[in-house]
Amino acid sequence: MTKIYAYAIRKDEEPYVKEWKDAHKDIKVEYTDQLLTPETAKLAKGADGVVAYQQLNYTAETLQALADEGIHNLSLRNVGIDNVDLKKAKELDFKLTNVPVYSPNAIAEHAAVQAANILRQDKRMAEKVAKHNLQWAPTIGREVRDQTVGVVGTGHIGQVFMKIMEGFGAKVIAYDIFKNPELEKQGYYVDSLDDIYAQADVISLHVPDVPENVHMINDDSIKKMKDGVVIVNVSRGPLVDTDAIIRGLDSGKVFGFVMDTYENEVGIFNEDWSNKDFPDERLANLIARPNVSVTPHTAFYTTHAVRNMVVKSFDNNLNLIKGKTPETPVDLNKEF
Ligand code: COI
Repeated sequence: MTKIYAYAIRKDEEPYVKEWKDAHKDIKVEYTDQLLTPETAKLAKGADGVVAYQQLNYTAETLQALADEGIHNLSLRNVGIDNVDLKKAKELDFKLTNVPVYSPNAIAEHAAVQAANILRQDKRMAEKVAKHNLQWAPTIGREVRDQTVGVVGTGHIGQVFMKIMEGFGAKVIAYDIFKNPELEKQGYYVDSLDDIYAQADVISLHVPDVPENVHMINDDSIKKMKDGVVIVNVSRGPLVDTDAIIRGLDSGKVFGFVMDTYENEVGIFNEDWSNKDFPDERLANLIARPNVSVTPHTAFYTTHAVRNMVVKSFDNNLNLIKGKTPETPVDLNKEF
């Protein structure tokens, strides 16, 4: 009997795994709540394919451990492939899939809501209210419709974010090296990132973690931005030089920062530190600031998205096992 083994299945995913199992009674599905590591790879013994999601790096050792069990079909429940050793995956003849579009709305909505909260100084106001200080001043808000919003990256998520921001009445401008013809016709694109920096009051990043994007937000780019800029990163931690952001916040140049992804998040996010020593002083510093919204990579975390991630990744894995073309393969022959 064909068998799929899934890693790191959370309680909130279980109903969707059950839904998929019920619809595929001829497939054996087993799963664990443990992450896929070189040590746990042997749990998948006898499986034809493995389903996992991005929380740890899938290193050469992890991939080798799966290959040692005769497993070469790996389906990610998430979009990002930046944590997979793609060179090793190719060398070991892996077939890989991801779920590139599970709910752009989940992520775009989170970015929009947090950006609006920062503009309204909601965290600062909530802190005052919690101390029974019910005075208005000086916690005055900025309206979204008065902002120029610069969107860097106009893929699925960037486009939903643009629509939401326009719904609020903002002026939206965009930059992408891959221009969307429809958006181009509508005149959204500026010519360069520098144009975004010079014109935007709110800058939201929706680009992947590829080497050319690492630390695209740094001291130099922040210097080029408008005073009082709000920066939103719900994409990938390495896009932002965190120390540069802290300097920008300290100087007042940066009015606020939305951070759902952090360059050192692996091993820290999705863990309960409430009764343990907090492992990252810089992150603690950001969390404590009234003009910074830190969420632990949860922009994606909605029932809608989680269902799609589970169902689509299991569908993909089954197609790999059957030798059919999955809906969303990752092309390992491409140069990454
Ligand atoms: C992705 O889909 O790549 C994400 O960023 C969310 C994931 C960590 C579950």
